[in-house]
Amino acid sequence: MASMRVEILLALVVGLCVGVQLEAQLQVGFYKNSCGLAEFIIKYEVRNAFIRDRGVAAGLVRMHFHDCFVRGCDGSVLIDSTPQSTAEKDAPPNNPSLRGFEVIDRAKTWLESVCKGVVSCADIVAFAARDSVEITGGLGYDVPAGRRDGRVSLASEALANLPAPTLNVDQLTQEFANKGFTQGEMVTLSGAHSIGRSHCTSFSNRLYNFNSTMSQDPSLDPNYAARLKQQCPQGSTDPNLVVPMDPNTPNSMDTSYYQNIRLNRVLFTSDQTLLTHIATLNQVSQNAANPFVWREDFAAAMVKMGQMSVLTGSAGEIRLNCRVIN
Ligand code: HEM
Ligand SMILES: *[C@@H]1O[C@H](CO)[C@@H](O)[C@H](O)[C@H]1NC(C)=O
Repeated sequence: MASMRVEILLALVVGLCVGVQLEAQLQVGFYKNSCGLAEFIIKYEVRNAFIRDRGVAAGLVRMHFHDCFVRGCDGSVLIDSTPQSTAEKDAPPNNPSLRGFEVIDRAKTWLESVCKGVVSCADIVAFAARDSVEITGGLGYDVPAGRRDGRVSLASEALANLPAPTLNVDQLTQEFANKGFTQGEMVTLSGAHSIGRSHCTSFSNRLYNFNSTMSQDPSLDPNYAARLKQQCPQGSTDPNLVVPMDPNTPNSMDTSYYQNIRLNRVLFTSDQTLLTHIATLNQVSQNAANPFVWREDFAAAMVKMGQMSVLTGSAGEIRLNCRVIN
C-alpha cells in the first residue's frame, strides 16, 4: 500500500518534470512557419546598424546578457520606465551604458508589419546577440526560440542580479552559480569583453581611489594605467567618456581578452581577478592560446544563457512594441 503510494507520487513527480521541461523548451526554427523571414529581418537590421556604428554589436551581446540575468530572457530589459515604475534599463548597470535599443525597435517594427504579433521581443534580442557575435568574428550558432515577453521590469532587480565590475573571482563564481552556470562558463562568457567599450566611471576606482592605502590598483599594468588616466582624467564630470575594452581589436570577438588579462591590461577587477585562482588562470591561458576552442565554448554558453527562465507556451505575451507591455 505504502509502496504503491510512493510509486504514484514518483509517477506524478516525473510527469511534472517532463511537463515543465516540455513547457520550457525552445526550438531552433521556431518561426519557420509563422514568420519565415524573422531571422533574416533581424540579421539585416543588425548588419545595417553595424555598418553605421560597429559598437552596436557589443551593445546587443551585452543586452542579451542583461536581459537573461534579470527575470530570465523575457525582453524585460527593453521596457521603458513609467511615472509609476523605474524599469531595468534605467538602473545604474544599464543606464547610460546599455545600447542598441533602436536596432531592436527597427527589427520589431518591420516584423510587426509582416507578421503581426508573432515574434517576441525576447527572441529578437537573442537573435540579435547571435548575429552580433557572428558579425564580429565569433562563431554563428543556432538560436532555439519561442521565448515570450514578460510584463515586469524593475530597476531594483537589475541592480540585484547583474554582477558588478568590482567583484573578485569567488564572488563572480557564486553569482554565476546562483544562475546555474559553472565557473568555467563564467570565464568563457567573460570573453565577450573582447569587444566594445566601457565608461570611465565603471573602472576609475582602479586608477584613482583603489583603497585606503593605494590610489592605483597594483594589479593593473602601470603603463596601461597611465594611458587610461589620460583618457579618463580624475574628477572628470563627463559621464560620456568611454574607452575600448580591447584597444587592439575593439570590434573583433577574439581571445585577445584572455591575452590582455595575462598582461594585466583589462579594465575591471572582475576581469583581472581571473588570474587569482588556479582553475580560472589555467582556463585564461588555454583560451588565450586556443581561439577555436573558446569560440565553440562561447557559442554553447550563449545558447545556454539564452534559455534562462524563459516564458513559453501561453505564459507572458508577444509585445507589440518592445518598450511597452501590451
Ligand atoms: C562576469 C561578470 C561581468 C561583469 C562584472 C561585467 C561588467 C561590465 C561592465 C562594467 C561593462 C562596461 C559598461 C560601461 O561602462 O559602458 C561591460 C561591458 C560589456 N560587457 Fe560585461 N560584464 C560581465 C559579464 C559579461 C557577459 C557574460 C557578457 C556577454 C556574454 C558581457 C558583455 C559585455 C559587452 C559586449 C560589453 C561592451 C558593451 C558596449 O560596448 O556597449 N559581459 N561589462
Ligand atoms: C589595498 O590593496 C592592496 C593591493 O591589493 C593590498 O595589499 C592592501 O592590503 C589593500 N589595503 C587595504 C587597506 O585594504
